[in-house]
Amino acid sequence: MEQQNREDVLILAVETSCDETAASVVKNGREVLSNVIYTQIALHTKFGGVVPEIASRKHIEKINQVIEGALEEAGVALRDITAIAVTYGPGLVGALLVGVSEAKALSFATGIPLVGVHHISGHISANYIEHRELEPPFACLVASGGHSHLVVVKDYGQYEIIGRTRDDAAGEAFDKVARAIGLGYPGGPKIDKLSKEGNPDAIPFPRAKVGSNEYDFSFSGLKSAVLNYLNSCQMRGEGINQADVAASFQKAVIDVLVEHSLHAVKEYGFHKFAIAGGVAANSSLRAAFERKCAGRNVAFYYPSPIYCTDNAAMIGVAGYYEYIRGVRHGYDLNAVPNLKL
Ligand code: KG4
Ligand code: ZN
Repeated sequence: MEQQNREDVLILAVETSCDETAASVVKNGREVLSNVIYTQIALHTKFGGVVPEIASRKHIEKINQVIEGALEEAGVALRDITAIAVTYGPGLVGALLVGVSEAKALSFATGIPLVGVHHISGHISANYIEHRELEPPFACLVASGGHSHLVVVKDYGQYEIIGRTRDDAAGEAFDKVARAIGLGYPGGPKIDKLSKEGNPDAIPFPRAKVGSNEYDFSFSGLKSAVLNYLNSCQMRGEGINQADVAASFQKAVIDVLVEHSLHAVKEYGFHKFAIAGGVAANSSLRAAFERKCAGRNVAFYYPSPIYCTDNAAMIGVAGYYEYIRGVRHGYDLNAVPNLKL
């Protein structure tokens, strides 16, 4: 058993918002004692995307095992846990309900306080795990399968969204384009890998500008441009170079994410900038930000890939800061699929 001080705050975190069943134990906000993820990707791959009902059913099957695994790996007994943190939105309602119900049941049975956590707050907080020196305020780009947000992190758990996508999220565009060029689900990592063999300047795909808010994003036009390009090649009886399409598409997404983010960093006068969410695992995106931030004297932070995609450690970190702010939820906590940040 891990030796704990009585003052240590140990958060047991649970995350089931999409297709990962995850649990983690986090000590004093920044130290991850365990991070167990049961990924359902293989189950959903044959359908080309996440099937909500299958996700919920699998969460039900796996959740107890994953939580036991997280406690065991951390060397911590349930009675040593200070608070139970759980993602209660946004996400798939049936999937969220599994984690929320589990966390409520555990809290009810043990008397351990319950803390509901916003999934995006979790993604942003993933940056605190490996960057002990990082503290708010800073600017953060959150790019995942469901969200593309430019966020001012004013304080722990205190956010202002200054830019958002008008249509598709960045990860969604990766997934749709990957499917169109025959790479399968999930598209992000596959496009990331294949792009290394392609020419990012081969096809001039559009970089969308959104009229009224310079920080907003739009990716549906880019997705349509890729589909039109594929159709016109097919009509002309020409084969496509998958790697060139992947690399050119990826470059178009990255250019827009980088331009809007750095514009915000400059306008708001930040010297710290972070990225988060599944798309933040993209190797070319990380390289592009690294270059641009270095040239502008801005400190650039990003989580390891395992903390970019969905995991419970990030929920444990965000949950810790909620807990020490005094946030407690009752047993009426419900899943909120469109929870606002
Ligand atoms: O954060 P996440 O695990 O789940 C959501 O909260 O949505 O993000 C998943 C998304 C998927 O769209 C996936 O294709 C994308 O992140 N993704 C990537 C990479 N790894 C995951 N996109 C680009 N490059 C990657 N290496
Ligand atoms: Zn996520």
